[in-house]
Amino acid sequence: MPHKVDIAFTLNGRPVAAAVPVSASALQVMNRDFDLTSAKLACGEGECGACTILLDGVSRNSCLTPGVDLDGRDVETVEGLWTGNGMDLLQDAFVEAGAVQCGFCTPGMVMQAKFLLAPGKKLTRDHVLRGLEGNVCRCTGYHKIVDAIVAASGETS
Ligand code: FES
Ligand code: FES
Repeated sequence: MPHKVDIAFTLNGRPVAAAVPVSASALQVMNRDFDLTSAKLACGEGECGACTILLDGVSRNSCLTPGVDLDGRDVETVEGLWTGNGMDLLQDAFVEAGAVQCGFCTPGMVMQAKFLLAPGKKLTRDHVLRGLEGNVCRCTGYHKIVDAIVAASGETS
């Protein structure tokens, strides 16, 4: 049996706890312990951004983040954006812009976009393109994703 460590953290606004193997990644903790499947395992090497989550408001590749590092942190995934009244601003913007094709990259893109967005700050296409350098999409050609994030930033400014 792998050695396990007790951790407690805030997950999408709720206090949670789990006993996680020391070798588990944050992505595995999300998937296995909390049934959250939006963050995806693709490269597993920090190269594609499919596994992007926010840790204390900062985007991280959860495939490379040790699960034990979640202890005491504030963790956000796409599942936490659902308000009960529907999709949030970013999700709406992705749909409106037609920025989703197969959808595999979308949760990571949305969380990276959430990290880039700051209230009152209007992002340019250049800002967004630089901010998405670690997120790979094999379907869209990126233009519509950039359109969506620029449009969402207009809504927050
Ligand atoms: S799966 Fe984590 S960066 Fe690719
Ligand atoms: S929509 Fe298919 S990989 Fe981005």
